[in-house]
Amino acid sequence: MSVWSEVLQVRLVLNVLDADLLCHKLISSISIYEVQDGKFPILCKSNQKTDSTARIHWLLPVYDRIATMMQGVEQGMNAFDLSGKVALVTGTSGGLGQGMALGLAEAGADVICVSYSKSEDTVSKIQALGREAISIQADLSQHDGLEAVVTEALAFKGQIDILVNNAGIIRRTPAAEHSWKDFADVLDLNLETVFYLSQLVGRHMIERGSGKIISVASMLSYQGGINVPGYTASKHGVAGITKALANEWASKGIQVNAIAPGYMLTDNTAPIVADQARFDSITERIPAARWGTAEDMQGPVVFLASDASNYLNGHVLCVDGGWMAR
Ligand SMILES: NC(=O)c1ccc[n+]([C@@H]2O[C@H](COP(=O)([O-])OP(=O)(O)OC[C@H]3O[C@@H](n4cnc5c(N)ncnc54)[C@H](O)[C@@H]3O)[C@@H](O)[C@H]2O)c1
Repeated sequence: MSVWSEVLQVRLVLNVLDADLLCHKLISSISIYEVQDGKFPILCKSNQKTDSTARIHWLLPVYDRIATMMQGVEQGMNAFDLSGKVALVTGTSGGLGQGMALGLAEAGADVICVSYSKSEDTVSKIQALGREAISIQADLSQHDGLEAVVTEALAFKGQIDILVNNAGIIRRTPAAEHSWKDFADVLDLNLETVFYLSQLVGRHMIERGSGKIISVASMLSYQGGINVPGYTASKHGVAGITKALANEWASKGIQVNAIAPGYMLTDNTAPIVADQARFDSITERIPAARWGTAEDMQGPVVFLASDASNYLNGHVLCVDGGWMAR
């Protein structure tokens, strides 16, 4: 049992007891000692208002209710379990890709890390979590090489259950001066590679009748942005391709969805963070009053990679501290 699930269980016990204490007001105080073998030893402290028989009568139904609730919690939590699954994550040398790879590993998945720069740090962190991982170094904007990447990835465990299309670049120059090369480079990696890789891995998932594809979109899948026309076009495209693939593959047991991060602290946003006035004005507009981190991506990616999201198709999930809600 993980520490997290123990904490959750103790919290649940306390909630049940709090509710019953309010209702009955019979027992003056109750303490929980520890969780053992899924059972909850309950210590009933002194109580002048009721005798021990009344206390036992009160405690038995509470104990039964806790046991029933915990069965439900265990079942619910298993839906997020990724044990035995293999994930391929792109852009894992740092930033959001590293955060998501670690989140998937923590939930039980083995991970294939594909990146332009080395992902050794990510691989060793995954191994420290007790999971298996390999690093494939590749320039994913070279579309001719994508098939070889997928072949190498499949050689790891013979399967890919989860694909996270995360690798992405941004080029910042005003639209009037934006070079065609910058525009094309961004589209190549951020959109075309997302489609081609999803297609190659999707074929394997169709054969197996199951799979999860999660692409990283952006607030600029909805908004126009400033000085980043190629990036905006690519991320609008990611939202579109997510829906297109979801429509075709939902009936084949494959869920295709996207995550749209808000302003997150990574290398990608370092130039904005360095501009104090810009940084402050953005922070002021974020309802959560802070920028996101790689860790903020972990819960959402595990959700979209797990059975907990089996009836979710073509959705773009904003992980933005409320930016889009404002
Ligand atoms: N940071 C943010 O605020 C933010 C917001 C919205 C969306 N995003 C998106 O999230 C994703 C990750 O961004 P990040 O902020 O972690 O960026 P980052 O620059 O920190 O990391 C990008 C990763 O992509 C890899 N990569 C770059 N070019 C590649 C190529 N040609 N082939 C293979 N790998 C390549 C890099 O090696 C790195 O691992 C991107 O798609 C980005 O557009 C980021």
